[in-house]
Amino acid sequence: MIVFLVGCQSPPVEEPAIPDPIPRVEAAPLLTSPAEAIDADDTPGVFLTELRPAPAVLSIEGEDVAGYSYAYDGQVPGPTLRVAVGDTVTTLLQNDLADATTVHWHGMQVPEAMDGAGWVDGGIAPGTAFTYTFTAGAPGTFWYHPHLDVGAQVDGGLYGVVIVEDPAEPVADRELVLVFDAWGEHDDGVPGLDGESDDHHDLTDPARTRWTVNGLVGPRFVATGGERIRVRTLNASNTSYLALGWPGMRQIGGDQGLWGAPEGPEVTVLAPGDRAEFEWDVGTEGFDVTTLPWVAAGGEALGDTRTLLTVEVEEPATASAPIAWPTADTWVSPDPAHTELVYVFQGGGEGDWLINGEAWPDVTRQVAALGADTIVEVRNLSATNHPFHLHGQRFEVLSVDGVPVPARRIEDTVDIGIRQRVRLLLHADNPGDWLLHCHLLGHEEGGMMTVLGVE
Ligand code: C2O
Ligand code: CU
Repeated sequence: MIVFLVGCQSPPVEEPAIPDPIPRVEAAPLLTSPAEAIDADDTPGVFLTELRPAPAVLSIEGEDVAGYSYAYDGQVPGPTLRVAVGDTVTTLLQNDLADATTVHWHGMQVPEAMDGAGWVDGGIAPGTAFTYTFTAGAPGTFWYHPHLDVGAQVDGGLYGVVIVEDPAEPVADRELVLVFDAWGEHDDGVPGLDGESDDHHDLTDPARTRWTVNGLVGPRFVATGGERIRVRTLNASNTSYLALGWPGMRQIGGDQGLWGAPEGPEVTVLAPGDRAEFEWDVGTEGFDVTTLPWVAAGGEALGDTRTLLTVEVEEPATASAPIAWPTADTWVSPDPAHTELVYVFQGGGEGDWLINGEAWPDVTRQVAALGADTIVEVRNLSATNHPFHLHGQRFEVLSVDGVPVPARRIEDTVDIGIRQRVRLLLHADNPGDWLLHCHLLGHEEGGMMTVLGVE
């Protein structure tokens, strides 16, 4: 709830002292979706745009972010690329940073040379350009971000959303893109915020984490009574988890597009790198979008529920017709008793973050057969969660600790809890060498990354 003015409740005995200067009370900022990238080619089926990453001064709640900060095309989040299934998507990347960069198309099945992984060629040198081009595959909500120096570049504001639309999907009254990022308060009482990778604040304390929604802290969103909104969300933070909740939550999709059937979870956990889609069936009442406490280093959640944004309802409710989301099989593929690939996540403390006992770049390349079903088992033997992410492919989650998941889930990023064992069905159909890593960027940079060959 937004309170603009504070009224007196009981008759004053004494005149209250009027503070000098009188404090300004400002309305929460108004939320909109990030601006969309312009398609510079009007040929149907061809999407052509340009992205320019450059240093930027980011201001959050009127205070400049200390340390590194960057923006694509002067905006954080960067422009949303909205394309259709089958489009030829071409992005001219002009690197205006002082460092090499890349663009990784997180969750999309692009050719290896367009994956922006940067580990073979060292990326795009400062002052130079590169043309990314690929065909948009499956529909869904994806994102783009650099894959070099991620602890600075992603943390400093370089990320944006890619929406791949399927014309067969029903159209909501409105779409809203929500990109969440976390910023840290300093430990030492110095005002202002930093990216999470800066070591001037304590990441394990959720009370010192400030969330932005499309760059704004605690914004309000004005909805029209009765409208139905398709909400596409991304957790772009380096390290911080979201446990999203609001009354009457209805989730319609995950990392890889719409689910076979909508569900009504009480809370949806978004690990760094995760996406989820929701339907807001706006009635007459506003509501708050909140996150429950989550501790980055695992263990008990601490702190209070925090409001991320407030939805206000204007104009009377004229209910629109329910949206007929497509339905599909929600059964989970059977888990065969065999396992082709095992990834054990461990480490931390004083040492490196490891996969199968190895730290990047001294890793063993494992192989999955192109076009065949590969069963992957991921085990977490460390004292913190790890969002497992594989480039260039999508996979089905079969089971968690031996218990089949309740409904079919196709993902590219899946959180592996402390001591958990998660089994995945990978039908690898995109040939090449693909990074596989933890999406907590400090862990990735600390060694928790390897390569999977698909051949
Ligand atoms: Cu979001 Cu290796 O990437
Ligand atoms: Cu990790």
